[in-house]
Amino acid sequence: MEAPVAPPPGPAPPRTPGPASRSLKEGGTIEPIREILWGDQAGVRKYETSEELPEDLRKLVIRLMVVQADTEFASIQQHRPWLDSAPTLEDRWIEARIVADEARHGLQACRILRDFGEEGQKYIDELLTKREGEHKLDAFNIAFDRWSDVGAFCCFVDRVGVYQLRAFQECSYGPLARAMPLMLSEEQLHLNFGFSVLKRMAKDGAKYNGSKEEAQASIEKWYPRSLDMFGHSNSETSRKAIAHGLKRWTNEEARERFIREVTPLVKSMGLELPSSDFDRHIL
Ligand SMILES: [Fe+2]
Ligand SMILES: [Fe+2]
Repeated sequence: MEAPVAPPPGPAPPRTPGPASRSLKEGGTIEPIREILWGDQAGVRKYETSEELPEDLRKLVIRLMVVQADTEFASIQQHRPWLDSAPTLEDRWIEARIVADEARHGLQACRILRDFGEEGQKYIDELLTKREGEHKLDAFNIAFDRWSDVGAFCCFVDRVGVYQLRAFQECSYGPLARAMPLMLSEEQLHLNFGFSVLKRMAKDGAKYNGSKEEAQASIEKWYPRSLDMFGHSNSETSRKAIAHGLKRWTNEEARERFIREVTPLVKSMGLELPSSDFDRHIL
């Protein structure tokens, strides 16, 4: 199963009613997708409760939700100093909205963990004790030292988040699949915001805030961390997740799609991407 690469930020294309909205208009109903769409169990009914999951899939869902929730809570800590120091009123409002969205995403991932009873609750309790610098992924242990860091983080790191969420879209675990659409729509705002911050800096410099050089330096700081977030190229876990119908792409496939998407975006701002092996920690 292949999903389209995210459209670049900008006005949405005109929408024409699809078969589902036509069906509703005519008094019909929309059938949710009930069967597993890819992997070894394709065609079989999705898993709907934590008790139904085979042991290794159960472990995988828990592990992925712990990492997911950790990134959501960590990014709140990173954004926090900018809530009342972002350059414009609108930027402050969007910062506040991003923080609220990330809190909701963390809650949503924890709700999935709660379904795993005591074991899930133990992970939630641990997650709530994590401070800056103690998070699982490097990108979430680095402070936003200047406003261009907020722009580059949202443009790159949130965009990787979107790829990770898209990989779960219509996955084999029903409760997780159903959490995706709202999270995805909120993340789209974050990455569009990041792009617009960098673009304004590159174009207007100090008239907006910061400079083109700062925007470029932040791209060099966050792009390598965002590429690392996809994980190791030969990850056994990612292959297992695909076989279980949980994720759609290998780490390397997703990383390549991401690079194809951001390359023209950065060029359109008159800025440059470092090479994909620059300052990498996870290959
Ligand atoms: Fe999020
Ligand atoms: Fe986000």
